[in-house]
Parts: sequence; structure tokens; C-alpha cells
Amino acid sequence: MVSYICCTKLNSMKYIKLYLLVAFLIVSCKTVQETSNKADNLVIPVVQDTREIQGGMWIPSLLEGINEQEMMQLGSKMTAKDIYDVNNSSLKDAIVHFNGGCTSEIISPNGLLLTNHHCGYGAIQSHSTVEHDYLENGFWAKSYEEELSNPSMSVTFIKRIDDVTAEVFSGITETMDEAAKMKLINQNILKVTKKVQKESWQDANVKSFYDGNQYLLFVTEEYKDVRLVGAPPSSIGKFGADTDNWMWPRHTGDFSMFRIYADANNKPAEYSKDNVPYKPNHYLPISLDGVAEKDFTLVFGFPGSTDEYLPAVAVDQIVNVLNPAKIEVRDNALKIVDSYMRKDPAIKIQYASKFASIANYWKKWIGENQGIKKSNAIQKKKELEAEFSKIVAEKDLVGYSTLLSDFEKLYSEIESVSLARDYWIEVAYRNVELLNITFRAFQLEQAYLNGGDGAFEKVKEATINRFEGFYKNYSAEVDKPVFEKLVGLYAEKSPKEYLPANMQGVNFSDLTNRVYSNSKLTSLEGAKELLTGSPEEVMKKLNADEGYIFGKELHTVFYSKMEPKFQELNLQLRAVQKKYMKALMDVFPNKRFFPDANSTLRVTYGQVRGYEPKDGVYYNTTTYLDGVLEKYVPGDYEFDVPQKLRDLYNNKDYGQYAENGKMPVCFIGTNHTTGGNSGSPAIDAYGNLIGLNFDRVWEGTMSDMNYDPDICRNIMVDIRYVLFIVDKYAGAKNLIEEMKLVHPKK
Ligand code: ARG
Ligand code: GLU
Repeated sequence: MVSYICCTKLNSMKYIKLYLLVAFLIVSCKTVQETSNKADNLVIPVVQDTREIQGGMWIPSLLEGINEQEMMQLGSKMTAKDIYDVNNSSLKDAIVHFNGGCTSEIISPNGLLLTNHHCGYGAIQSHSTVEHDYLENGFWAKSYEEELSNPSMSVTFIKRIDDVTAEVFSGITETMDEAAKMKLINQNILKVTKKVQKESWQDANVKSFYDGNQYLLFVTEEYKDVRLVGAPPSSIGKFGADTDNWMWPRHTGDFSMFRIYADANNKPAEYSKDNVPYKPNHYLPISLDGVAEKDFTLVFGFPGSTDEYLPAVAVDQIVNVLNPAKIEVRDNALKIVDSYMRKDPAIKIQYASKFASIANYWKKWIGENQGIKKSNAIQKKKELEAEFSKIVAEKDLVGYSTLLSDFEKLYSEIESVSLARDYWIEVAYRNVELLNITFRAFQLEQAYLNGGDGAFEKVKEATINRFEGFYKNYSAEVDKPVFEKLVGLYAEKSPKEYLPANMQGVNFSDLTNRVYSNSKLTSLEGAKELLTGSPEEVMKKLNADEGYIFGKELHTVFYSKMEPKFQELNLQLRAVQKKYMKALMDVFPNKRFFPDANSTLRVTYGQVRGYEPKDGVYYNTTTYLDGVLEKYVPGDYEFDVPQKLRDLYNNKDYGQYAENGKMPVCFIGTNHTTGGNSGSPAIDAYGNLIGLNFDRVWEGTMSDMNYDPDICRNIMVDIRYVLFIVDKYAGAKNLIEEMKLVHPKK
């Protein structure tokens, strides 16, 4: 019907022609799509220079048109409706938000979920003891009965996405001030959420896109009975640990498996032994055919947050002021915790999860700073801003003429309070655990002061519950040197105008000794003892505790000085950013603008591609098991390899999962991902699972502020490695039998 066209380097005119052509193809093939959603019969021109159509995290319900065309140009055979359809089953029905932070996907008709090892880590850790160490040795349920329940875990499906922008903006006028606008917007959101049509077991929530220029409503279903099915040992699931984290070439089998359970009607239910495996509307078939350079890939998941449209002045502040401060705090905390974990196996289990999450962003910020500098991102943003200003002046767009100078002024005003706030967050909230405990106690006191006895009892119960979990993984021996080091750093480096009085002119070693020998908050028994009695008694005991007294002053300064100033300026900044976002789209109508990530379901697409990290070096797309053995250091903390895996390697016992006699492990692509995309499926041109996203490359972690198709790559485990480990390493054939394995290339 239509002949194949080969396009080499396209200029923009050719692009437009190409779009028209593709649009024509889509229209003329409508009958084909109506009978089968698959766009198999379309012959889509392949473009050679695909850089301009990659990057971006797109809204699944709005793919028709440009995105659908771009995907086809990259090699996809799917239509927008194959990916998201409200009335028929589509890919989206297999994509599940995993416990609020990660992504997972359904890979069997019995609700089997695949996600990353690092996403299931907390759950695997919670079932582990020194005797049954599933982190160390792995865990495999050989039947439904052996699957392990996880009381506080839940997963969420997206049932429907509606645009509610008009309702949310109803009544808003330009003359209103920002606070009044926000108030009315929030009231409208509440109204919209209340009147939405949904089933009783469903939820609805509204989220802002394009910095508040668009609002979408999500109807969701949350399942609360999610059980652990399988996890490889950390020497596979976390191979290379923190040394290899955020790095390519990579050899980590970062996966674990869970299962969703539902009530007898397949609806969400609290955990019950009578619940049954969930029957999904769609589950992903798994391709055994692997990937080759330039193959189309789509990553479907819940990216957390990006800041792609910040002005140069903001990026400059992050890279040169805020990131360095946070990196230094964590650098110090991590060194201390690491030294204790290496000495003591019990402490290693206790701190495994906390350490990994602190180390993760520490390393990411270092990579981000390097990437922003190396790619000249700040300069490039300045050039874009110069171009923007020129067009605004030429077209006399008065409403936009002060945006950049407003940013300059506000970012300079907010700098010291942002920095002080980051010190408080990193020291008093995140990294010194005793201070975090004093923060919980502080909240209890505030609840009492503001809400009286009723509020006190409620918050007290929640606080004790939290403490019960917290102290299981707490060691005052580890925390004490962290306190001394970090509190000292805070006092030395945080802006003086926000420094609590009790941090000025003190001897930190004496202070630390005093706090850790006298405070009752260093143990669960002590903490419970403080919280026993009438509200008045509890307040009296708390306010006599050395640890609490110290922490309370930090938290008081945070709430009375930092937060008010920060929120006041931040509200103004958000208003300018909202206008700037709209202005960018008006001033550059031909540029592609995706809405920044906000933990909602998104599609990103690209191709399997290698990259050049530095002059003279080229990284291939794929790693193999050979590389695992190259990195192998017997008995090492991060690079040990289990005997069984070495045996399988030596015997080349790869079953049906090998590629030309070799076992693929990981591969990279140009998909634009961020934190939250962990566990997201990598999907081929036909909708089959080919990999499992788990990371980005070091040189490209700046993609949160500056996606660059030449150097930003996401890292995926090859799905054949996952199957090989499940089948050959763990012998969990029961799981392989549940799945649907396919050969789309044959
Ligand atoms: N960097 C990946 C992500 O951002 C993996 C983190 C888990 N692994 C680790 N070694 N901390 O989540
Ligand atoms: N590991 C990240 C996560 O947990 C994904 C990597 C990234 O930030 O791109 O979501």
C-alpha cells in the first residue's frame, strides 16, 4: 500500500513532511487498527537521526498524535491505544505503582509482580534474621503457601486519567494574589475529587502538571495484600552494591518478585489467608529474543520528580551551593556507618536498607554535579534564556518580560534559607537518628499543645508504633559518632542567621557524651518509659531529657524561622515557574515539552544505544555473565559471586536464555527515566517484556535537570538474565511455568 521511505539526517522541514506522511498512514490504515490495535501492517519510515525525538516522560492518556508517531519512527509497532485504553485491556493494566516509590509489572495471569531487588529490599530485610538471612542467601517460595505477607505494603493500579484543568481553574482571575489562587484551586480540587464517578473500592486524586498549568485526575485501585515470592541473594540482586551503583558497565541482577492477592471477587482487600492470587486485565508476555542496538524500547512507570525547566540561576544554586553541602554531610555519615557495618554482621543487616538509600542519592548528586558541568548545562540554559528574552522583546510579550529577573531576585533571596533548611533536613531529620527520634517526640508535644489530650493520645499511639519498628534497626553505638560529626558540621557550615543558639560555641565531643549517656531516647525501653503517663507527666519527662532538649531547639528554629521564610519565597517562586513554563511553550511553539515527573504514570521511549562517556571511550549496549566473573572478588563485601552461579557459568548451563552461547546481564537505552522508574518494565516494539529498569549511568544522572540524548542512558536487567536466575540458579520452575514466554523476532 505505501512504499518504504528511508530518511537520513532530517531537517525540520522534512520532519514536518514526515509527520504529515505518518499522520496520513495512520488515517489510511484506520480499518487495520480497528480490527487489531497492533500497528503491524504500517510501514513506518525509519529515521537515522533520532535524537530529537527522544527524551521526555509522557502522559499515557495523551499519546495519540505526536508521541505515537515518534514511537513508530523509533521502531514501535504499537498504537497509542495498545498502551493506554480505558475501555479495553492495554499495557497500562499491567503496570503497578509499587509501595508508593517504585514501579512493578504483572507477568503472569496469577498476579505475579516483578520489581527491583532494591525496591523489595525493605521487605526482604524485614523477613531476615542472622539465621535466615534472605538478603544474604535469597528467598524462593515454591508454592503459594510459602509466600510471605508484608503488612504495610501496597500496590496501586491506574484505572483512568481525566483532564480536569477547566474545573480546577474555575473562578480563578489574574487579579487574585497567589495565596488566594492556591486556596481556590485546592477547594476546586476537593470538589472535583468528590463528584468523580468511581466504584466504592476505588480512589481518586488530582495532580498538577506543567508547574500548575494543567490538572489531571487519576482513578486508582490500591491492593494491600502483597506477598514476597522470590529474591536472589544480594550477591546477584545487589552485585557491585554501592561501588557499581549509578555506573555502566553494570552486572547487577536487580530483581525480586511479589504477588498481589485479592478477595474472592478479585477486589482489593486487607491481608487474609483466604485471599486469592489477583487476576489481571493484562499481563506482560516475556520475549526470549533479546535486544540489539537501535531496537525500540518503551519504559512504563512512575517517575518521581524532575526539574527540566528550571532557570540557569536555579541550576547554578543546586550544583554549586546545595548539592555540595548535602554531599559533604552524607559523605561523613556514610563513612562512619560503613565502618560499623563491615565489622558486625548484625549491624550490617540493621543498617543495610538505610545505608543504601543514603548512599544512593549521595552518589547521584556527585554524578549530577559532574554531568551538569561537563555538558555545560548552565551555559546552555543561559543561551536559551537569551533567546527567550529576545523573542519576548521582539513580540512585546509584556507579561513575560520580568520572569527571568524575578527568578534572579528570588533565588538570591532564598539561597541562605534553602541551605539552612538542607542542613536541618540532612542532619536533624535524616542522618542523625536520635535527632529524628526527637523530631517525632517534638511532633507529639506540638500535637498536645495544639490539640489537647485527644490529639496527644492519638499521636502517642502512632509514635510508639513507629518507635517499635525504628529501634529494631537502631544502634546508639553507630549513631553517636554520626551525631558528633554531623552536628559539628551543621554548626560550622550552616548560615549563621538560622543557627540554633544551643549549637553556638559548644564542645561537640562533650555535648555528644552528655546526650548519649543521659538521654533515654537511645533505646526502645527508655523511649517508652518517657512516653508513659499522663500528657503532663510525659511533657515534663521529655523536657528534662538531654537528647530531647537539644533536638527540640533545632526543630523549633526550623519551624519558627526557616519554614516561614522558605515557604513565603517558595510560593512566589512557584508562581514565577508556572508562568515561565507557560511562557516557554508560547515562545518556542515547535519545541517538545513534557510535564516534569510527579510520581504519576508515564511513558518514555527510546532505543537501545551505547554511548561515549569521554573522549576515546565507547560503551557497548550489553554486558554478559563473563563480566560478572571479571569483577568477581572471592569473599568481597560487594563483588563476591555465589558458587552455584560460577558453576552455571563454567558449564555454560544457560538453558533457553543464552544469546550465541553467552548470558546477557544488563543493557542500556535512551529512555528518559528517574527515581521511581525503578522496577519499570522495558517493553519491545510489540508490547513484550524485554528488561527491567533499575538505574541510570553516572554521566547521565543530570537528566533530571538536563536530558541529553547523547549521554543519558537508563540501565535495565536483561529479562533473560532474570529468567535464568529464577530457573537455573534458584530452580523455581513453578514461576517460569506461570509466565508466557514468546519469540517475537522469530
Ligand atoms: N541507583 C538506583 C536507584 O536510584 C539503585 C539504588 C539501589 N542500590 C544501591 N546500591 N544503593 O534507585
Ligand atoms: N534506581 C532508581 C529508582 O529507585 C531508578 C534510577 C533512576 O533514578 O533513574 O527509582
